[in-house]
Amino acid sequence: MRTLLLASAFLAGLFGSLAAAPTPEPAPSPYRPFCRTLWLFVSPCVEVRTALVVQIQALSQYELVSVNPVHIAANHTSPERPLGEDISFSLSPTVLTNGCRVTATSNSIGFASLLDGGLNYCNLRNLLSATGLSSRPGFMEMTNEWACLGIGLATCKV
Ligand SMILES: *[C@@H]1O[C@H](CO)[C@@H](O)[C@H](O)[C@H]1NC(C)=O
Repeated sequence: MRTLLLASAFLAGLFGSLAAAPTPEPAPSPYRPFCRTLWLFVSPCVEVRTALVVQIQALSQYELVSVNPVHIAANHTSPERPLGEDISFSLSPTVLTNGCRVTATSNSIGFASLLDGGLNYCNLRNLLSATGLSSRPGFMEMTNEWACLGIGLATCKV
């Protein structure tokens, strides 16, 4: 039963909040590397949103594009990849735990190699690590190689 609940939370997180987001991001192109991952926090969404926005503004490779109570859009660029990647977070409260469920995505722009070495995953994960939220009790991440390219090979810096 528990496994079933987790599995449906996983699927709902990966696919459900796309429709719920006020500015839905385009579906990831099959020819571009991307990562989609689901994070569960015990902390309320307002706290998670604030922490993510603070780090997007603090870290030099990230730029905030827009933010509202349920959605954050940003981008990530680096000297090696000036076109960068689009990043988005969709947040929804979890009723039973008073926590927050976040669907995080990173999509490469103009980068055709399907082997991104975990770049898109690390864009999301490095930001999360900077918030400190992932080391709190109750944090959970759900994704796989199909939804998040290169996750098995990724060695994120932070
Ligand atoms: C990143 O977002 C900022 C703010 O919206 C924008 O000015 C900039 O052009 C974007 N960079 C890329 C590479 O998309």
